[in-house]
Amino acid sequence: MQICVIGCGYVGLVTAVCFAEMGNSVTCIDSNVERISMLQEGRSPIFEPGIEVLLSSNIRGGRLCFSATLDDGALRGAEVVFIAVGTPSAEDGSADISQILSVANELAHKLTQPAIVVCKSTAPVGTACRVQNILDQHCASLQRIGLHRVVSNPEFLKEGAALNDFMRPDRIVIGTDDNQAQQVMHQLYEPFVRNHDRILFMSRRAAEMTKYAANAFLATKISFINEMAAFCDEFAVDVEQVRKGIGADQRIGHHFIYAGCGYGGSCFPKDIRAILHMAGEHNRRMPILEAVEARNQEQKTWPFRALQDQLGEDLSGLTVTIWGLSFKPGTDDIRDAPSRTLIESLLIAGAQIKAFDPIAADNIKRCYPHAVKTGQLQLVDEPYDALQGADALVLVTEWKQFRQPNFSLMRSLMRNPLLLDGRNQYEPALVEREGFVYVGVGRPSTQPVAAALRAVV
Ligand SMILES: NC(=O)c1ccc[n+]([C@@H]2O[C@H](COP(=O)([O-])OP(=O)(O)OC[C@H]3O[C@@H](n4cnc5c(N)ncnc54)[C@H](O)[C@@H]3O)[C@@H](O)[C@H]2O)c1
Repeated sequence: MQICVIGCGYVGLVTAVCFAEMGNSVTCIDSNVERISMLQEGRSPIFEPGIEVLLSSNIRGGRLCFSATLDDGALRGAEVVFIAVGTPSAEDGSADISQILSVANELAHKLTQPAIVVCKSTAPVGTACRVQNILDQHCASLQRIGLHRVVSNPEFLKEGAALNDFMRPDRIVIGTDDNQAQQVMHQLYEPFVRNHDRILFMSRRAAEMTKYAANAFLATKISFINEMAAFCDEFAVDVEQVRKGIGADQRIGHHFIYAGCGYGGSCFPKDIRAILHMAGEHNRRMPILEAVEARNQEQKTWPFRALQDQLGEDLSGLTVTIWGLSFKPGTDDIRDAPSRTLIESLLIAGAQIKAFDPIAADNIKRCYPHAVKTGQLQLVDEPYDALQGADALVLVTEWKQFRQPNFSLMRSLMRNPLLLDGRNQYEPALVEREGFVYVGVGRPSTQPVAAALRAVV
């Protein structure tokens, strides 16, 4: 099939590469000229495991090409056009859909043959309908009403595992009532669900709502366990034991119940804000999701509060090492990352920061040019180099390489052996045996246990 994908970010690029891999002919468009130049050379502007291999082989195979404009025949012959542009948070928390609307306007003028236009971006209920109206209005002026069919097909991939998620989806949600659009979309996705059909057809509005509901539920699980972690703290109970205890119940499951320093990324925070804004527009409140958002905001301050608990209110002049900067392992994405909340608090507090991340350091550098220039924020190439003279280490993102570090080397490099485990990666007893003071999220250390026992006596 002839496909055009508009937007070469985390979603658009993966979509384009995966459809090309299945033998389709894909043209991928992005208004960012730099991105397009990189892609034309087979280099990926985003970090996603495995993407460059597929990128190169499909470019070489002639199934994938890139352009910075829709003008040079990018839409010629396209049967399906995906819109995968960003929908960031606006100032008021609403989803800013201006990129989608701008693409829709461009398509209205440039798409001359009948096509299925697919909204892949996460967008408020009614957005696909607005795109349809924009296309219809233009077509009406040419007396070609009903030329294009707009479908909502939200994406559920996870950064860091995006190719696998796209190639082996749990489900594919397609919002359309149109028979022909259903057939084409089924044909397009059939290679991804060969062993059993996981394509769910529904209305456009239900598809848009499904995406928000899925993210809201996952964010709720995370905030729930973080709230339980704070509760566990009060009773000197290890939330890790509780996590395993509840996760074993199949109705609950082990996914997304890890206590930590909060969720970040390009989806959960902005999507929760968007839902709350949509609710407000309908004079509704969503108390559960308000609490999810509030708990997450508080959770992101956990590392800084824990540092102050251990080292005192005044952190000026102290050196804090951060391991992990991306919002989760496996990606270079730092949008709304908990590491940024910590960095910003430490900069204000006058602390020195030494940070290491295997992939995301350059993105962080671009965010804080002043602090990098003054040397208050140092991005270090090696995790152990970052520990030289540190007063504390904070593990913020649980990259695999941090799972079994050389504790005795770490201990010898640090000025003060304080380890704040923002992702509960380590066994407290083991780390304490190595000579560290260990603080986890919702995990008792010796002191709180003593305090709790005293309270009981
Ligand atoms: N990142 C994820 O994990 C993920 C997962 C599921 C859904 N989503 C949703 O998918 C959408 C895209 O997310 P993303 O993370 O890929 O965004 P992104 O910011 O990484 O990529 C968007 C791309 O669109 C390009 N763009 C913007 N306007 C354009 C225009 N008029 N013409 C051509 N290109 C244009 C930008 O230059 C950018 O490269 C969002 O709605 C997001 O919520 C994201």
